[in-house]
Amino acid sequence: MTAEVSRRAVLRALGALPAVLAAGGAGPAAADSADTALALTTAQRRLAFATAAAETLAAPLTTLAGRLPSDLTGVLWRNGPAEHERYGHRYGHWFDGDGMVQAFTFTGSGVSHRARILETPKRRRETEAGKRLLPAFATLPPEPAPIMAPDDMNAANTSVLAHGGRLMALWEGGSALEFDAETMAAGDFVAWRADLAGAPFSAHPKVEADGTCWNIGCVVSPRPMLLFYRIDPQGRLAAFNALPKEPLGMVHDYVVTRRHLVLVVPPFVIEPERFVAGPISFLDAHAWRPELGTRVIVVEKETLTPVRRYELPPGFHFHHGNGWEEADGTIHLDLCRAADPMFAIHDLRAVMQGDWNFPSAQPHYSRMALRPGGAGTVEQAAAAIADFPRIDPRRTGLRHRTLFALTGARDGGWPLSRVGRIDPDRGAVDGWSYPRHLIPEEHVFVPRGEAEGDGWLVGPFLDLERRAAGLSVFEAQRLADGPLWQGILPYPLPLGLHGTFVAS
Ligand SMILES: [Fe+2]
Repeated sequence: MTAEVSRRAVLRALGALPAVLAAGGAGPAAADSADTALALTTAQRRLAFATAAAETLAAPLTTLAGRLPSDLTGVLWRNGPAEHERYGHRYGHWFDGDGMVQAFTFTGSGVSHRARILETPKRRRETEAGKRLLPAFATLPPEPAPIMAPDDMNAANTSVLAHGGRLMALWEGGSALEFDAETMAAGDFVAWRADLAGAPFSAHPKVEADGTCWNIGCVVSPRPMLLFYRIDPQGRLAAFNALPKEPLGMVHDYVVTRRHLVLVVPPFVIEPERFVAGPISFLDAHAWRPELGTRVIVVEKETLTPVRRYELPPGFHFHHGNGWEEADGTIHLDLCRAADPMFAIHDLRAVMQGDWNFPSAQPHYSRMALRPGGAGTVEQAAAAIADFPRIDPRRTGLRHRTLFALTGARDGGWPLSRVGRIDPDRGAVDGWSYPRHLIPEEHVFVPRGEAEGDGWLVGPFLDLERRAAGLSVFEAQRLADGPLWQGILPYPLPLGLHGTFVAS
């Protein structure tokens, strides 16, 4: 099968081929224009945030079109909120639902899928009570039980870390939850040291090429505190520090460079007095305080203490791509930044009702530069909406030339409808738009050759017409050619968040 025939077969299977042929074989633009006329129904949009069909799922993927690369072998581990409704109660925000871990296993000749809802202590208590009992990130149940420790409400629903021979489901504000690779059953929360049991371990750890894993934790109560972890390649805590006097905003991600960890703290801050006034969700306890500006803390890896600080204009982001530093100490980093947090406060609630208007400011690919003398700049570097950035993991903390992200526009459909390749210096350079009824999730880069960006881009999608989840494989340096292969499952899956590919 030639590459062109393969690509056409994929597009035909997706219903996009006529437009491509009419445009003389052009790629993404043709698919875009053909698709905008196809309206999605509210019922279709709600499928993206429906509860998973069962607590455990397993099936092989059926090839829709294309050919699976035989040398792409391993497991794409993913996580995401998947139990949005339980006991007649529906959560009101994308990030609330109980986590479901998933494994897409690539054998070289096929892909199979397994998934399991994680039985966290939070979910077990609710099962025993026969009702929703504990607060979620942005939703309170009707009669919320008090929270004694962050893990009381740990939904383990955000990402997966494979490190030191363990698999862990990650959440934002609590401990990592170990789970079994075969059964996918939840194990215990990870205590990196006996006295750190229950300490927050964020959902975006960074693993460097030598296997060293860095992470942060944000403690809210009883007093705000930032935590820093260095985990050795064997999964043992090698260094730790807790900083009680740092500004806290909603810090979901950060970057590592060769010598530093960099936290960009948006002025979306917890106001503890909001908790005193009565039950309130974690999200609603935050206030947007643009007058505080964005505060940047540069922490030295060697000592895990702050060595530089910056104040920049206000903005809000969840995700970074990568960070690196020049010989003179100038730090560069990527972030997917919006003018304010309204997309997280409003739009990601509205999607639970099937409302895809997205009226708020959306995140765009931006670059930040932090000079050693104290001056910092931040600028939007690409026109499209962008989020879920990923890099070649071998470039973590080093200068990178390629960043992959979901991109798109506010056009009545899902705003992150395109897989894009961005050059941090030049902006968007390549991409492919999914047809309107296919909703892509985070796509991760899987290395093949030695050069940065030589490999595949792999990610799931939800087909709102077939009511089924699927998976795409792209040649990472030729996204505009369309997928090399796409497969489909016999069931839908709600849109998840993050994952990691473990090659075999
Ligand atoms: Fe995230």
